[in-house]
Amino acid sequence: MRELERNRDAPDTGASTGLRSLAVIGAGRTGGSVTPAARAAGLDVRVGTRGTAAVTAGGSDITLLCVPDESISAVCAEVATATDLPAYVGHVSGATGLDALEPAARRGAQIFRLHPLQTIPAPGTSLAGVPAAVTGSSPAAAEVARTLARRLGMVPFDLAEEHRAAYHAGAVLASNFVLTLAETAADLLTRAGVKDARAALTPLLLSTAANWAGAGPAALTGPIARGDEETVRAHQAALAGLAPELLPAYTALADRTRAVAAVAAYKNQGGTPVSTPKIVRTREELRAALAPARRAGTRIGLVPTMGFLHEGHASLLRAARERCDVVVMSLFVNPTQFGPNEDLAAYPRDEAADLAMAAAAGVDLVYAPAADHVYPPGFATTVEVGGELTNVLCGDPARRGAAHFRGVTTVVAKLLNAVGPDVAFFGQKDAQQAIVVRAMARDLELPVEIAVLPTVREPDGLAMSSRNVYLTAEERIRARALNQALTVAADTARTAGEGSAIRDALAAAGKVLADAGIEPEYLEARDAENLTVAERFGDRPVLIAVAARVGRARLIDNVVVQVVQVVQGA
Ligand code: PAJ
Repeated sequence: MRELERNRDAPDTGASTGLRSLAVIGAGRTGGSVTPAARAAGLDVRVGTRGTAAVTAGGSDITLLCVPDESISAVCAEVATATDLPAYVGHVSGATGLDALEPAARRGAQIFRLHPLQTIPAPGTSLAGVPAAVTGSSPAAAEVARTLARRLGMVPFDLAEEHRAAYHAGAVLASNFVLTLAETAADLLTRAGVKDARAALTPLLLSTAANWAGAGPAALTGPIARGDEETVRAHQAALAGLAPELLPAYTALADRTRAVAAVAAYKNQGGTPVSTPKIVRTREELRAALAPARRAGTRIGLVPTMGFLHEGHASLLRAARERCDVVVMSLFVNPTQFGPNEDLAAYPRDEAADLAMAAAAGVDLVYAPAADHVYPPGFATTVEVGGELTNVLCGDPARRGAAHFRGVTTVVAKLLNAVGPDVAFFGQKDAQQAIVVRAMARDLELPVEIAVLPTVREPDGLAMSSRNVYLTAEERIRARALNQALTVAADTARTAGEGSAIRDALAAAGKVLADAGIEPEYLEARDAENLTVAERFGDRPVLIAVAARVGRARLIDNVVVQVVQVVQGA
Protein backbone atom coordinates (compact mmCIF):
# COMPACT_ATOMS: atom_id res chain seq x y z
CA MET A 1 0.00 0.00 0.00
CA ARG A 2 2.85 2.34 0.82
CA GLU A 3 4.21 1.64 -2.66
CA LEU A 4 0.86 2.49 -4.17
CA GLU A 5 0.67 5.72 -2.25
CA ARG A 6 4.12 6.71 -3.35
CA ASN A 7 3.12 6.09 -6.95
CA ARG A 8 -0.07 8.03 -6.49
CA ASP A 9 1.91 11.02 -5.27
CA ALA A 10 4.41 10.83 -8.12
CA PRO A 11 3.98 13.56 -10.70
CA ASP A 12 2.17 12.61 -13.90
CA THR A 13 4.88 12.42 -16.48
CA GLY A 14 2.42 12.22 -19.39
CA ALA A 15 3.81 15.37 -20.94
CA SER A 16 7.39 14.12 -20.88
CA THR A 17 6.45 10.83 -22.52
CA GLY A 18 4.36 12.68 -25.16
CA LEU A 19 1.38 10.40 -24.71
CA ARG A 20 -1.45 11.69 -26.92
CA SER A 21 -3.02 8.88 -28.90
CA LEU A 22 -4.13 5.44 -27.83
CA ALA A 23 -5.35 2.53 -29.91
CA VAL A 24 -7.50 0.12 -27.92
CA ILE A 25 -7.91 -3.29 -29.54
CA GLY A 26 -10.92 -5.08 -28.09
CA ALA A 27 -14.26 -3.67 -27.02
CA GLY A 28 -15.08 -6.15 -24.27
CA ARG A 29 -15.25 -5.43 -20.52
CA THR A 30 -11.71 -4.09 -20.16
CA GLY A 31 -11.47 -2.36 -23.56
CA GLY A 32 -14.93 -0.93 -23.03
CA SER A 33 -13.80 0.53 -19.68
CA VAL A 34 -10.38 1.76 -20.84
CA THR A 35 -11.82 3.63 -23.84
CA PRO A 36 -14.16 6.04 -21.99
CA ALA A 37 -11.55 6.59 -19.23
CA ALA A 38 -8.90 7.48 -21.83
CA ARG A 39 -11.27 9.81 -23.68
CA ALA A 40 -12.17 11.49 -20.40
CA ALA A 41 -8.43 12.00 -19.82
CA GLY A 42 -8.17 13.85 -23.15
CA LEU A 43 -6.45 11.12 -25.14
CA ASP A 44 -7.19 10.64 -28.80
CA VAL A 45 -8.63 7.09 -28.74
CA ARG A 46 -9.26 4.78 -31.66
CA VAL A 47 -10.96 1.45 -31.08
CA GLY A 48 -10.41 -1.65 -33.19
CA THR A 49 -10.97 -5.35 -32.95
CA ARG A 50 -9.32 -8.47 -34.22
CA GLY A 51 -9.16 -8.06 -38.01
CA THR A 52 -8.85 -4.27 -37.86
CA ALA A 53 -6.01 -4.23 -35.35
CA ALA A 54 -3.24 -3.24 -37.75
CA VAL A 55 -5.17 -0.30 -39.21
CA THR A 56 -6.32 0.89 -35.78
CA ALA A 57 -2.88 0.60 -34.22
CA GLY A 58 -0.96 2.22 -37.06
CA GLY A 59 0.30 5.67 -36.10
CA SER A 60 -0.82 5.56 -32.42
CA ASP A 61 1.59 6.38 -29.60
CA ILE A 62 0.42 3.35 -27.66
CA THR A 63 -1.59 0.32 -28.62
CA LEU A 64 -3.28 -1.56 -25.81
CA LEU A 65 -4.52 -5.08 -26.48
CA CYS A 66 -7.67 -5.72 -24.43
CA VAL A 67 -8.43 -9.09 -26.00
CA PRO A 68 -8.86 -12.55 -24.43
CA ASP A 69 -5.59 -14.06 -23.16
CA GLU A 70 -5.49 -16.74 -25.82
CA SER A 71 -5.78 -14.15 -28.64
CA ILE A 72 -3.06 -11.76 -27.47
CA SER A 73 -0.30 -13.34 -29.49
CA ALA A 74 -2.33 -13.51 -32.72
CA VAL A 75 -3.68 -9.96 -32.40
CA CYS A 76 -0.19 -8.70 -31.63
CA ALA A 77 1.02 -10.38 -34.83
CA GLU A 78 -1.65 -8.36 -36.66
CA VAL A 79 -0.52 -5.13 -34.98
CA ALA A 80 3.04 -5.92 -35.97
CA THR A 81 2.03 -5.68 -39.63
CA ALA A 82 0.97 -2.01 -39.25
CA THR A 83 2.86 0.24 -41.62
CA ASP A 84 3.34 2.89 -38.94
CA LEU A 85 4.10 0.64 -35.96
CA PRO A 86 3.20 2.17 -32.55
CA ALA A 87 6.23 2.82 -30.34
CA TYR A 88 4.61 0.99 -27.40
CA VAL A 89 2.40 -2.10 -27.44
CA GLY A 90 0.90 -3.52 -24.25
CA HIS A 91 -1.70 -5.97 -22.99
CA VAL A 92 -3.89 -6.08 -19.89
CA SER A 93 -3.71 -9.75 -18.91
CA GLY A 94 -2.49 -10.82 -15.47
CA ALA A 95 -1.78 -14.40 -16.45
CA THR A 96 0.01 -13.78 -19.75
CA GLY A 97 3.69 -12.93 -20.10
CA LEU A 98 5.30 -10.15 -22.05
CA ASP A 99 6.47 -12.79 -24.50
CA ALA A 100 2.98 -12.86 -26.04
CA LEU A 101 3.90 -9.45 -27.49
CA GLU A 102 7.02 -10.81 -29.19
CA PRO A 103 5.73 -10.12 -32.74
CA ALA A 104 5.63 -6.36 -32.02
CA ALA A 105 8.91 -6.43 -30.08
CA ARG A 106 10.64 -8.13 -33.02
CA ARG A 107 9.66 -5.18 -35.21
CA GLY A 108 11.12 -2.72 -32.71
CA ALA A 109 8.13 -1.77 -30.52
CA GLN A 110 8.66 -1.54 -26.78
CA ILE A 111 6.24 -3.76 -24.91
CA PHE A 112 4.50 -3.67 -21.57
CA ARG A 113 1.77 -5.18 -19.44
CA LEU A 114 -0.76 -3.16 -17.47
CA HIS A 115 -2.95 -5.44 -15.39
CA PRO A 116 -5.84 -3.89 -13.43
CA LEU A 117 -5.93 -5.69 -10.06
CA GLN A 118 -9.70 -5.57 -9.91
CA THR A 119 -12.60 -7.39 -11.50
CA ILE A 120 -14.13 -5.44 -14.36
CA PRO A 121 -17.63 -6.85 -14.61
CA ALA A 122 -18.87 -4.82 -17.62
CA PRO A 123 -17.80 -2.23 -20.21
CA GLY A 124 -17.96 1.28 -18.74
CA THR A 125 -16.67 0.17 -15.29
CA SER A 126 -14.82 3.04 -13.63
CA LEU A 127 -11.09 2.45 -13.32
CA ALA A 128 -10.63 5.25 -10.80
CA GLY A 129 -8.37 4.17 -7.96
CA VAL A 130 -7.89 0.64 -9.33
CA PRO A 131 -4.36 -0.66 -8.58
CA ALA A 132 -2.56 -1.78 -11.73
CA ALA A 133 0.51 -4.04 -12.02
CA VAL A 134 2.98 -2.64 -14.53
CA THR A 135 5.81 -4.50 -16.26
CA GLY A 136 7.84 -3.15 -19.18
CA SER A 137 10.41 -4.57 -21.57
CA SER A 138 12.53 -1.49 -20.73
CA PRO A 139 12.45 1.31 -18.16
CA ALA A 140 10.88 3.54 -20.85
CA ALA A 141 8.13 1.00 -21.57
CA ALA A 142 7.40 0.65 -17.85
CA GLU A 143 7.25 4.43 -17.50
CA VAL A 144 4.82 4.69 -20.43
CA ALA A 145 2.63 2.01 -18.85
CA ARG A 146 2.68 3.84 -15.50
CA THR A 147 1.76 7.09 -17.22
CA LEU A 148 -1.08 5.48 -19.12
CA ALA A 149 -2.36 3.86 -15.92
CA ARG A 150 -2.37 7.21 -14.13
CA ARG A 151 -4.10 8.96 -17.04
CA LEU A 152 -6.81 6.29 -16.81
CA GLY A 153 -7.20 7.04 -13.08
CA MET A 154 -5.48 3.87 -11.92
CA VAL A 155 -2.75 3.50 -9.30
CA PRO A 156 0.24 1.72 -10.87
CA PHE A 157 2.78 -0.45 -9.06
CA ASP A 158 5.79 -2.22 -10.54
CA LEU A 159 5.91 -5.98 -11.00
CA ALA A 160 8.98 -7.92 -12.20
CA GLU A 161 8.24 -10.26 -15.10
CA GLU A 162 9.71 -13.27 -13.28
CA HIS A 163 7.15 -12.83 -10.49
CA ARG A 164 4.11 -12.60 -12.74
CA ALA A 165 2.75 -16.05 -11.91
CA ALA A 166 3.27 -15.55 -8.16
CA TYR A 167 1.54 -12.16 -8.35
CA HIS A 168 -1.33 -13.66 -10.29
CA ALA A 169 -1.61 -16.49 -7.75
CA GLY A 170 -1.91 -13.80 -5.07
CA ALA A 171 -4.68 -12.13 -7.04
CA VAL A 172 -6.48 -15.47 -7.34
CA LEU A 173 -6.15 -16.02 -3.58
CA ALA A 174 -7.62 -12.59 -2.81
CA SER A 175 -10.56 -12.89 -5.19
CA ASN A 176 -11.42 -16.41 -6.34
CA PHE A 177 -10.30 -18.22 -3.22
CA VAL A 178 -11.98 -15.79 -0.85
CA LEU A 179 -15.20 -16.44 -2.74
CA THR A 180 -14.58 -20.18 -2.48
CA LEU A 181 -14.04 -19.83 1.27
CA ALA A 182 -17.22 -17.79 1.67
CA GLU A 183 -19.20 -20.34 -0.32
CA THR A 184 -17.68 -23.17 1.73
CA ALA A 185 -18.58 -21.40 4.97
CA ALA A 186 -22.13 -20.90 3.71
CA ASP A 187 -22.33 -24.57 2.81
CA LEU A 188 -21.22 -25.56 6.31
CA LEU A 189 -23.76 -23.24 7.95
CA THR A 190 -26.47 -24.66 5.72
CA ARG A 191 -25.52 -28.18 6.80
CA ALA A 192 -25.67 -26.92 10.37
CA GLY A 193 -29.29 -25.90 9.76
CA VAL A 194 -28.92 -22.16 9.08
CA LYS A 195 -31.60 -21.08 6.57
CA ASP A 196 -30.13 -18.19 4.52
CA ALA A 197 -26.44 -18.75 5.14
CA ARG A 198 -25.25 -16.19 2.59
CA ALA A 199 -27.25 -13.40 4.18
CA ALA A 200 -26.10 -14.53 7.62
CA LEU A 201 -22.42 -14.47 6.66
CA THR A 202 -22.31 -11.34 4.49
CA PRO A 203 -21.80 -8.72 7.24
CA LEU A 204 -19.00 -10.80 8.77
CA LEU A 205 -17.25 -11.25 5.45
CA LEU A 206 -17.51 -7.57 4.52
CA SER A 207 -16.28 -6.34 7.89
CA THR A 208 -13.37 -8.82 7.81
CA ALA A 209 -12.27 -7.44 4.44
CA ALA A 210 -12.61 -3.86 5.67
CA ASN A 211 -10.72 -4.60 8.91
CA TRP A 212 -7.90 -6.31 7.07
CA ALA A 213 -7.63 -3.43 4.61
CA GLY A 214 -7.18 -1.11 7.57
CA ALA A 215 -5.01 -3.13 9.94
CA GLY A 216 -3.48 -6.09 8.06
CA PRO A 217 -2.64 -9.14 10.23
CA ALA A 218 -3.53 -7.20 13.41
CA ALA A 219 -7.19 -7.48 12.35
CA LEU A 220 -7.09 -11.23 12.97
CA THR A 221 -9.51 -12.32 15.69
CA GLY A 222 -10.88 -15.68 16.81
CA PRO A 223 -9.62 -18.82 18.51
CA ILE A 224 -6.26 -19.15 16.75
CA ALA A 225 -5.30 -15.53 17.44
CA ARG A 226 -6.23 -16.15 21.11
CA GLY A 227 -4.22 -19.36 21.22
CA ASP A 228 -7.38 -21.31 22.01
CA GLU A 229 -6.33 -24.64 20.48
CA GLU A 230 -9.05 -26.52 22.32
CA THR A 231 -11.69 -24.74 20.26
CA VAL A 232 -9.76 -25.52 17.08
CA ARG A 233 -9.79 -29.19 18.01
CA ALA A 234 -13.54 -29.00 18.65
CA HIS A 235 -13.99 -27.51 15.17
CA GLN A 236 -11.97 -30.31 13.64
CA ALA A 237 -13.99 -32.93 15.47
CA ALA A 238 -17.24 -31.31 14.28
CA LEU A 239 -15.99 -31.17 10.69
CA ALA A 240 -14.90 -34.80 10.83
CA GLY A 241 -18.54 -35.66 11.51
CA LEU A 242 -20.45 -33.16 9.38
CA ALA A 243 -18.13 -32.33 6.47
CA PRO A 244 -15.02 -34.54 6.52
CA GLU A 245 -14.01 -33.39 3.03
CA LEU A 246 -13.39 -29.92 4.48
CA LEU A 247 -11.04 -31.13 7.22
CA PRO A 248 -7.76 -30.95 5.24
CA ALA A 249 -8.55 -27.41 4.05
CA TYR A 250 -9.54 -26.30 7.57
CA THR A 251 -6.36 -27.82 9.04
CA ALA A 252 -4.13 -26.22 6.39
CA LEU A 253 -5.79 -22.83 6.89
CA ALA A 254 -5.51 -23.16 10.66
CA ASP A 255 -1.75 -23.64 10.25
CA ARG A 256 -1.53 -20.67 7.95
CA THR A 257 -3.58 -18.63 10.42
CA ARG A 258 -1.19 -19.55 13.26
CA ALA A 259 1.63 -18.09 11.20
CA VAL A 260 -0.36 -14.90 10.52
CA ALA A 261 -1.24 -14.64 14.23
CA ALA A 262 2.41 -15.07 15.14
CA VAL A 263 3.48 -12.35 12.75
CA ALA A 264 0.75 -10.06 14.10
CA ALA A 265 1.87 -10.72 17.68
CA TYR A 266 5.48 -10.08 16.77
CA LYS A 267 4.67 -6.84 14.92
CA ASN A 268 2.60 -5.81 17.89
CA GLN A 269 5.75 -5.95 20.01
CA GLY A 270 7.38 -3.56 17.54
CA GLY A 271 9.36 -6.15 15.58
CA THR A 272 9.83 -6.51 11.87
CA PRO A 273 9.26 -10.06 10.64
CA VAL A 274 11.72 -11.19 8.01
CA SER A 275 9.46 -13.91 6.65
CA THR A 276 6.10 -15.60 7.07
CA PRO A 277 7.19 -19.17 7.68
CA LYS A 278 5.20 -21.93 6.04
CA ILE A 279 4.23 -24.67 8.49
CA VAL A 280 4.24 -28.27 7.31
CA ARG A 281 3.18 -31.25 9.39
CA THR A 282 4.14 -34.24 7.27
CA ARG A 283 7.29 -35.39 5.51
CA GLU A 284 5.33 -35.41 2.24
CA GLU A 285 4.38 -31.74 2.58
CA LEU A 286 7.94 -31.01 3.64
CA ARG A 287 9.41 -32.70 0.57
CA ALA A 288 6.94 -30.95 -1.74
CA ALA A 289 7.73 -27.57 -0.18
CA LEU A 290 11.47 -28.16 -0.58
CA ALA A 291 11.32 -29.63 -4.08
CA PRO A 292 11.85 -26.31 -5.95
CA ALA A 293 14.83 -25.39 -3.74
CA ARG A 294 16.33 -28.82 -4.25
CA ARG A 295 15.82 -28.69 -8.04
CA ALA A 296 17.43 -25.25 -8.10
CA GLY A 297 20.41 -26.63 -6.18
CA THR A 298 20.13 -23.97 -3.49
CA ARG A 299 21.66 -24.37 -0.05
CA ILE A 300 19.28 -25.74 2.56
CA GLY A 301 19.89 -25.19 6.29
CA LEU A 302 18.19 -27.13 9.10
CA VAL A 303 17.84 -26.06 12.72
CA PRO A 304 16.36 -28.92 14.78
CA THR A 305 14.52 -27.71 17.90
CA MET A 306 12.01 -28.87 20.46
CA GLY A 307 10.38 -25.43 20.48
CA PHE A 308 9.78 -22.95 23.29
CA LEU A 309 12.39 -20.94 21.52
CA HIS A 310 14.74 -18.45 23.12
CA GLU A 311 17.69 -16.39 21.94
CA GLY A 312 19.91 -19.50 21.87
CA HIS A 313 17.67 -21.03 19.22
CA ALA A 314 17.37 -17.65 17.49
CA SER A 315 21.15 -17.44 17.14
CA LEU A 316 21.11 -20.77 15.27
CA LEU A 317 18.24 -19.59 13.06
CA ARG A 318 20.04 -16.36 12.23
CA ALA A 319 23.25 -18.23 11.40
CA ALA A 320 21.25 -20.53 9.11
CA ARG A 321 19.60 -17.50 7.49
CA GLU A 322 23.02 -15.99 6.82
CA ARG A 323 24.63 -19.13 5.47
CA CYS A 324 21.75 -20.76 3.56
CA ASP A 325 19.21 -19.91 0.87
CA VAL A 326 16.38 -21.87 2.48
CA VAL A 327 16.03 -22.18 6.27
CA VAL A 328 14.05 -25.06 7.73
CA MET A 329 13.34 -25.25 11.45
CA SER A 330 11.98 -28.43 12.94
CA LEU A 331 9.70 -28.13 15.92
CA PHE A 332 9.23 -31.47 17.61
CA VAL A 333 9.31 -32.45 21.27
CA ASN A 334 10.94 -35.81 20.68
CA PRO A 335 9.47 -38.36 23.13
CA THR A 336 12.21 -40.98 22.59
CA GLN A 337 14.92 -38.81 24.14
CA PHE A 338 13.01 -38.42 27.43
CA GLY A 339 13.41 -41.04 30.12
CA PRO A 340 10.35 -42.48 31.92
CA ASN A 341 10.82 -40.12 34.88
CA GLU A 342 11.68 -37.05 32.84
CA ASP A 343 9.62 -34.00 31.92
CA LEU A 344 8.10 -35.01 28.54
CA ALA A 345 4.52 -34.18 29.52
CA ALA A 346 5.51 -30.95 31.24
CA TYR A 347 7.99 -29.81 28.58
CA PRO A 348 7.01 -26.19 27.80
CA ARG A 349 5.28 -25.56 24.48
CA ASP A 350 4.15 -22.34 22.77
CA GLU A 351 3.83 -22.82 19.05
CA ALA A 352 2.47 -19.33 18.35
CA ALA A 353 5.44 -17.65 20.05
CA ASP A 354 7.83 -20.04 18.29
CA LEU A 355 6.37 -19.10 14.92
CA ALA A 356 6.79 -15.42 15.73
CA MET A 357 10.44 -16.04 16.60
CA ALA A 358 10.87 -18.06 13.42
CA ALA A 359 9.35 -15.21 11.41
CA ALA A 360 11.67 -12.73 13.09
CA ALA A 361 14.71 -14.84 12.21
CA GLY A 362 13.69 -15.35 8.57
CA VAL A 363 12.77 -19.04 8.69
CA ASP A 364 11.17 -20.25 5.45
CA LEU A 365 9.71 -23.57 6.56
CA VAL A 366 8.69 -24.92 9.95
CA TYR A 367 8.41 -28.71 10.08
CA ALA A 368 6.20 -29.52 13.06
CA PRO A 369 5.10 -33.16 12.78
CA ALA A 370 2.90 -35.03 15.25
CA ALA A 371 4.56 -37.74 17.36
CA ASP A 372 2.67 -40.55 15.61
CA HIS A 373 3.83 -39.24 12.25
CA VAL A 374 7.46 -39.49 13.32
CA TYR A 375 6.92 -42.76 15.21
CA PRO A 376 3.99 -44.61 13.60
CA PRO A 377 2.93 -48.03 14.89
CA GLY A 378 5.55 -50.57 13.88
CA PHE A 379 8.43 -48.12 14.11
CA ALA A 380 11.39 -50.31 15.06
CA THR A 381 14.65 -48.77 13.89
CA THR A 382 17.05 -46.73 15.97
CA VAL A 383 20.35 -45.00 15.33
CA GLU A 384 22.88 -45.31 18.12
CA VAL A 385 26.39 -43.98 18.46
CA GLY A 386 28.20 -46.57 20.56
CA GLY A 387 31.22 -46.39 22.84
CA GLU A 388 32.42 -43.75 25.24
CA LEU A 389 30.65 -40.76 23.66
CA THR A 390 27.19 -41.79 24.77
CA ASN A 391 28.09 -43.50 28.06
CA VAL A 392 29.68 -40.61 29.88
CA LEU A 393 28.40 -37.29 31.27
CA CYS A 394 24.64 -37.21 30.54
CA GLY A 395 24.90 -40.69 28.98
CA ASP A 396 26.09 -42.32 32.21
CA PRO A 397 23.61 -45.11 33.09
CA ALA A 398 23.00 -43.48 36.48
CA ARG A 399 21.98 -40.22 34.75
CA ARG A 400 19.99 -39.85 31.51
CA GLY A 401 21.74 -42.90 30.06
CA ALA A 402 22.71 -43.80 26.50
CA ALA A 403 19.01 -44.19 25.65
CA HIS A 404 18.70 -40.42 25.72
CA PHE A 405 21.30 -40.04 22.98
CA ARG A 406 19.78 -42.94 21.04
CA GLY A 407 16.56 -40.90 21.00
CA VAL A 408 18.43 -37.80 19.86
CA THR A 409 20.43 -39.50 17.10
CA THR A 410 17.39 -41.41 15.86
CA VAL A 411 15.28 -38.29 15.52
CA VAL A 412 18.12 -36.18 14.13
CA ALA A 413 18.88 -38.88 11.52
CA LYS A 414 15.21 -38.89 10.55
CA LEU A 415 15.12 -35.09 10.33
CA LEU A 416 18.30 -35.03 8.25
CA ASN A 417 16.77 -37.59 5.89
CA ALA A 418 13.45 -35.79 5.65
CA VAL A 419 14.94 -32.34 5.04
CA GLY A 420 18.18 -33.25 3.25
CA PRO A 421 20.00 -30.09 4.41
CA ASP A 422 23.46 -28.99 3.33
CA VAL A 423 24.13 -27.70 6.85
CA ALA A 424 22.48 -28.57 10.19
CA PHE A 425 22.97 -26.17 13.11
CA PHE A 426 23.44 -27.17 16.75
CA GLY A 427 24.34 -25.32 19.94
CA GLN A 428 27.48 -25.74 22.03
CA LYS A 429 25.15 -25.47 25.04
CA ASP A 430 24.47 -29.20 24.49
CA ALA A 431 28.13 -29.98 23.86
CA GLN A 432 27.84 -33.75 24.18
CA GLN A 433 24.82 -33.81 21.87
CA ALA A 434 26.78 -31.87 19.23
CA ILE A 435 29.73 -34.29 19.52
CA VAL A 436 27.45 -37.34 19.27
CA VAL A 437 25.56 -35.93 16.26
CA ARG A 438 28.87 -35.16 14.54
CA ALA A 439 30.04 -38.72 15.16
CA MET A 440 26.81 -40.10 13.71
CA ALA A 441 27.09 -37.94 10.57
CA ARG A 442 30.72 -38.99 10.12
CA ASP A 443 30.15 -42.72 10.76
CA LEU A 444 27.07 -42.94 8.52
CA GLU A 445 28.64 -40.69 5.83
CA LEU A 446 25.67 -38.38 5.96
CA PRO A 447 26.17 -35.66 3.34
CA VAL A 448 25.68 -32.77 5.76
CA GLU A 449 27.88 -30.26 7.54
CA ILE A 450 27.25 -30.14 11.29
CA ALA A 451 27.75 -26.54 12.41
CA VAL A 452 28.06 -25.86 16.16
CA LEU A 453 27.44 -22.35 17.49
CA PRO A 454 28.41 -20.75 20.82
CA THR A 455 26.19 -20.86 23.90
CA VAL A 456 23.92 -17.84 24.27
CA ARG A 457 23.54 -16.62 27.86
CA GLU A 458 21.28 -14.41 29.92
CA PRO A 459 22.93 -11.11 30.97
CA ASP A 460 23.94 -12.73 34.30
CA GLY A 461 25.62 -15.66 32.54
CA LEU A 462 22.95 -18.36 32.92
CA ALA A 463 22.88 -20.42 29.72
CA MET A 464 19.54 -19.93 27.98
CA SER A 465 17.35 -23.01 28.07
CA SER A 466 13.68 -23.80 27.49
CA ARG A 467 13.77 -25.44 30.93
CA ASN A 468 14.69 -22.17 32.69
CA VAL A 469 10.93 -21.46 32.92
CA TYR A 470 10.73 -24.15 35.59
CA LEU A 471 12.86 -22.00 37.94
CA THR A 472 11.27 -19.98 40.72
CA ALA A 473 12.68 -16.49 41.34
CA GLU A 474 14.93 -17.79 44.11
CA GLU A 475 16.11 -20.77 42.05
CA ARG A 476 16.74 -18.50 39.07
CA ILE A 477 19.27 -16.57 41.18
CA ARG A 478 20.94 -19.72 42.49
CA ALA A 479 21.14 -21.14 38.94
CA ARG A 480 23.71 -18.46 38.08
CA ALA A 481 26.21 -20.54 40.05
CA LEU A 482 26.54 -23.05 37.19
CA ASN A 483 28.14 -20.56 34.84
CA GLN A 484 30.03 -18.91 37.71
CA ALA A 485 31.52 -22.27 38.65
CA LEU A 486 32.63 -22.95 35.08
CA THR A 487 34.17 -19.49 34.82
CA VAL A 488 36.10 -20.05 38.04
CA ALA A 489 37.34 -23.42 36.72
CA ALA A 490 38.50 -21.85 33.45
CA ASP A 491 40.21 -18.97 35.29
CA THR A 492 41.97 -21.39 37.65
CA ALA A 493 43.24 -23.42 34.70
CA ARG A 494 44.43 -20.37 32.77
CA THR A 495 46.19 -18.92 35.82
CA ALA A 496 47.90 -22.20 36.69
CA GLY A 497 48.84 -22.72 33.04
CA GLU A 498 50.03 -25.72 31.02
CA GLY A 499 50.15 -29.02 32.83
CA SER A 500 48.08 -27.77 35.73
CA ALA A 501 45.90 -30.34 37.38
CA ILE A 502 42.30 -30.50 36.38
CA ARG A 503 41.49 -31.59 39.90
CA ASP A 504 42.27 -28.08 41.20
CA ALA A 505 40.05 -26.35 38.67
CA LEU A 506 37.16 -28.73 39.40
CA ALA A 507 37.60 -28.24 43.15
CA ALA A 508 37.35 -24.47 42.75
CA ALA A 509 34.23 -24.86 40.65
CA GLY A 510 32.71 -27.35 43.09
CA LYS A 511 33.08 -24.83 45.87
CA VAL A 512 31.10 -22.20 43.95
CA LEU A 513 28.30 -24.70 43.45
CA ALA A 514 28.35 -25.80 47.09
CA ASP A 515 28.17 -22.17 48.24
CA ALA A 516 25.00 -21.79 46.16
CA GLY A 517 23.55 -24.94 47.70
CA ILE A 518 23.79 -26.86 44.42
CA GLU A 519 24.88 -30.46 44.39
CA PRO A 520 25.91 -31.29 40.81
CA GLU A 521 24.85 -34.46 39.09
CA TYR A 522 28.29 -34.26 37.55
CA LEU A 523 31.10 -31.73 37.24
CA GLU A 524 33.72 -33.24 34.98
CA ALA A 525 36.55 -32.37 32.63
CA ARG A 526 36.91 -34.33 29.42
CA ASP A 527 38.68 -34.04 26.09
CA ALA A 528 36.45 -31.65 24.12
CA GLU A 529 36.62 -33.76 20.98
CA ASN A 530 36.46 -37.39 22.08
CA LEU A 531 35.18 -37.07 25.68
CA THR A 532 37.96 -39.23 27.15
CA VAL A 533 38.94 -38.27 30.71
CA ALA A 534 41.29 -35.29 30.78
CA GLU A 535 43.90 -35.15 33.54
CA ARG A 536 45.82 -31.96 32.78
CA PHE A 537 45.30 -28.78 30.84
CA GLY A 538 47.52 -28.56 27.78
CA ASP A 539 47.26 -28.04 24.06
CA ARG A 540 44.07 -30.07 23.62
CA PRO A 541 40.78 -28.33 24.34
CA VAL A 542 39.20 -29.54 27.57
CA LEU A 543 35.45 -29.55 28.06
CA ILE A 544 34.38 -28.75 31.60
CA ALA A 545 30.76 -29.80 31.85
CA VAL A 546 28.22 -29.55 34.62
CA ALA A 547 24.72 -30.87 35.17
CA ALA A 548 22.64 -30.04 38.20
CA ARG A 549 19.09 -30.06 39.36
CA VAL A 550 17.89 -26.68 40.56
CA GLY A 551 14.34 -27.06 41.84
CA ARG A 552 12.34 -28.82 39.12
CA ALA A 553 14.83 -27.94 36.38
CA ARG A 554 17.71 -30.15 35.31
CA LEU A 555 20.24 -27.69 33.92
CA ILE A 556 23.44 -28.30 31.95
CA ASP A 557 26.26 -25.99 30.95
CA ASN A 558 29.88 -26.21 29.83
CA VAL A 559 33.01 -24.32 28.93
CA VAL A 560 35.93 -25.30 26.71
CA VAL A 561 39.41 -24.47 28.02
CA GLN A 562 42.61 -24.62 26.06
CA VAL A 563 45.56 -23.18 27.97
CA VAL A 564 48.16 -23.58 25.20
CA GLN A 565 47.18 -22.03 21.87
CA VAL A 566 48.35 -24.24 19.01
CA VAL A 567 49.82 -22.26 16.14
CA GLN A 568 48.76 -23.73 12.80
CA GLY A 569 51.68 -25.38 10.99
CA ALA A 570 53.95 -25.07 14.02
P1 PAJ B 1 16.42 -27.95 22.00
O1 PAJ B 1 16.73 -28.10 23.44
O2 PAJ B 1 15.17 -27.23 21.62
O3 PAJ B 1 17.63 -27.20 21.33
C1 PAJ B 1 17.69 -27.00 19.95
C2 PAJ B 1 19.07 -26.50 19.58
O4 PAJ B 1 19.31 -25.25 20.21
C3 PAJ B 1 20.16 -27.45 20.05
O5 PAJ B 1 21.16 -27.59 19.04
C4 PAJ B 1 20.70 -26.75 21.28
O6 PAJ B 1 22.05 -27.05 21.55
C5 PAJ B 1 20.55 -25.30 20.88
N1 PAJ B 1 20.53 -24.43 22.07
C6 PAJ B 1 19.75 -24.56 23.17
N2 PAJ B 1 20.07 -23.61 24.08
C7 PAJ B 1 21.07 -22.88 23.54
C8 PAJ B 1 21.83 -21.76 23.98
N3 PAJ B 1 21.62 -21.18 25.17
N4 PAJ B 1 22.77 -21.26 23.14
C9 PAJ B 1 23.00 -21.84 21.94
N5 PAJ B 1 22.30 -22.89 21.47
C10 PAJ B 1 21.36 -23.40 22.25
O7 PAJ B 1 18.52 -30.00 21.57
C11 PAJ B 1 17.38 -30.29 21.27
O8 PAJ B 1 16.35 -29.37 21.28
C12 PAJ B 1 16.96 -31.69 20.84
O9 PAJ B 1 17.79 -32.60 21.45
C13 PAJ B 1 17.04 -31.87 19.27
C14 PAJ B 1 18.44 -31.68 18.74
C15 PAJ B 1 16.07 -30.90 18.58
C16 PAJ B 1 16.59 -33.31 18.92
O10 PAJ B 1 15.33 -33.57 19.39
